[in-house]
Amino acid sequence: MCGIIGYVGRSQALPILLEGLKRLEYRGYDSAGVATIEEGCITVRKEVGRIEDLRRAIGQHPVGGTTGISHTRWATHGKVTQENAHPHFDRSGKMALVHNGVIENYASLRTQLEEEGHQFVSQTDTEVLSHLIGRAFDRSAERTTSAMVTAIREALQLVSGTYGIAVIHAELPGVIIGARRGSPLVLGIGKGEHFLASDVSAIVGHTRDVVYLNDYEIVVLNGEGFTITTLEGNGADYNVTKVEMTDEDVGKGDYPHYMLKEIHEQVRSVTDALRGRLSHEEATAKLGGLNMTNAALRSVERVILTGCGTAFHAAMIGEYAIETLAQIPTECEFASEFRYRNLPMTKDTLVFVLSQSGETADTLAALRESKRKGHRTLGICNNVASTIARESDGGVYMHAGPEIGVAATKSFTSQVTILTLIALLLGRIRNLSSSDGSRIIAELEALPAKIEQVLTLEAEIAAVARRYAQAKVMLFMGRQYNYPVALEGALKLKEISYIAASGYASAELKHGVIALVNEETPSIFIAPNDALFHKNLSNIEEVKARGGPVIGIGTQGKGAELSLVCDDVILIPDAPEYLTPILASIALQFFAYYIAVELECDVDKPRNLAKSVTVE
Ligand code: F6R
Repeated sequence: MCGIIGYVGRSQALPILLEGLKRLEYRGYDSAGVATIEEGCITVRKEVGRIEDLRRAIGQHPVGGTTGISHTRWATHGKVTQENAHPHFDRSGKMALVHNGVIENYASLRTQLEEEGHQFVSQTDTEVLSHLIGRAFDRSAERTTSAMVTAIREALQLVSGTYGIAVIHAELPGVIIGARRGSPLVLGIGKGEHFLASDVSAIVGHTRDVVYLNDYEIVVLNGEGFTITTLEGNGADYNVTKVEMTDEDVGKGDYPHYMLKEIHEQVRSVTDALRGRLSHEEATAKLGGLNMTNAALRSVERVILTGCGTAFHAAMIGEYAIETLAQIPTECEFASEFRYRNLPMTKDTLVFVLSQSGETADTLAALRESKRKGHRTLGICNNVASTIARESDGGVYMHAGPEIGVAATKSFTSQVTILTLIALLLGRIRNLSSSDGSRIIAELEALPAKIEQVLTLEAEIAAVARRYAQAKVMLFMGRQYNYPVALEGALKLKEISYIAASGYASAELKHGVIALVNEETPSIFIAPNDALFHKNLSNIEEVKARGGPVIGIGTQGKGAELSLVCDDVILIPDAPEYLTPILASIALQFFAYYIAVELECDVDKPRNLAKSVTVE
């Protein structure tokens, strides 16, 4: 989704801005732009397409200056055009602004401004905000930074919606002003230089000392220092945080794509999700971050799990695990729906919000709605500095390391791992026996080695994937714990290869989906050695009887039986039913990845997608 980076200091801003934009590419975007202050004027360059297109355009018309702002745009209001790309000017042409978020009341404000004689060059909501700030500043008698801050405050009072903004003005060289409500902004502190970004990965190559801004705060930065105040004009408390992420963490290493790197990182990420969280002595999980006593956990009568996309699929697996191991009624709800439903929730309902980025607007809205209604709301996040992590009543961090590939991979398996820990903990303070607890712990400890084994199947899965890469439609089937895996496998394939794929509970096949089966429509069955293995085999037979090719994802020991009915078989290690989703989904991640590579798709930057969806 949209990204911001600003620089003020002694160095030339442009190379820093372009490098920062490159690091933000993974968020997904369709156009980009920069603005710098140069000899008392603002110079803007914008381009539709990739950062390389912008770089090429700038090469023909170079941009100088030591203060600048820049942006990657993911279109919401107005088509993907050069005019709609940020930065946007005010009426005077002296002020430039970049914006993440959505100004919801922009249409009425635009009409009002047009009646006053303002002319707009774009269809964006953002340009309205530029004009509002510029109008307020031009009405002020002073031409100072503090007058600009006042103008920004005034303008922001008029808008509803969300924003993270960075503003520069030709008459205020060496100054950037930022403000946030609902869209993240982080300040980077350097020596004689400062940075402002929507995402710490944009600046981590320059500084590790950062301040995460809160909603309703305004920051003024220049080369020497910064001040943070609230929108009301009061001083704001802040903490300088050391970023742990290294430059290497945000690089691709020797891998051709982030997605492949992140698939391979899952031995480590699952190990890190488990680290220090297993108690052999008590045969349970230790999750201190939940900030809840056993008595409080015991009184939980209902669990709600909410998230979007891949996180929602992980939540569905968590629903099975919590209901099976802890016998607590559990429900999954899309975060985008949660907020608009009036779910009957008693005071003993515990809500978990799942989000890799911790910034997904729908999930954040669900968190706030749940808290508003007085429910204890816990986060399962990867980004420790994210808004969801900060606003949750407690939670469990994934510790998966930065996930840059747009298609979520390691965050999914970390979420499932953590939900299994939660199910174990909730089960052990209810009916789950100590020996069952110990068995689950042993299985969790054996998991990283099993993931390692799945990773050794890469070449084999790649070969299968290439054989099916020309299919136009694919079906993914699984039962129970592996029904969400079927949904996730289909989502991965759709996202990065653009093949129409759908996931179903295997037995649903005969209730309608079977109409799609023919010689050209491959079906992928996740059929591990579980209680429903033979039911799955019958469903496979139904597809085969209609000429449909079948790929079976099975577990070791069941290869012979599966080979009798499947055209291709991929065998993952045997595991208890609550852990096969992790192993099967890694096999499906490889499958989707190698199909996308075969089709020469842009794996890390799939069309229309954004890594972190910060608009509702
Ligand atoms: C799919 C994918 C998305 C995200 C969803 C939620 O590969 O990446 O479906 O899972 O946008 O994102 P987070 O977890 O950051 O809230």
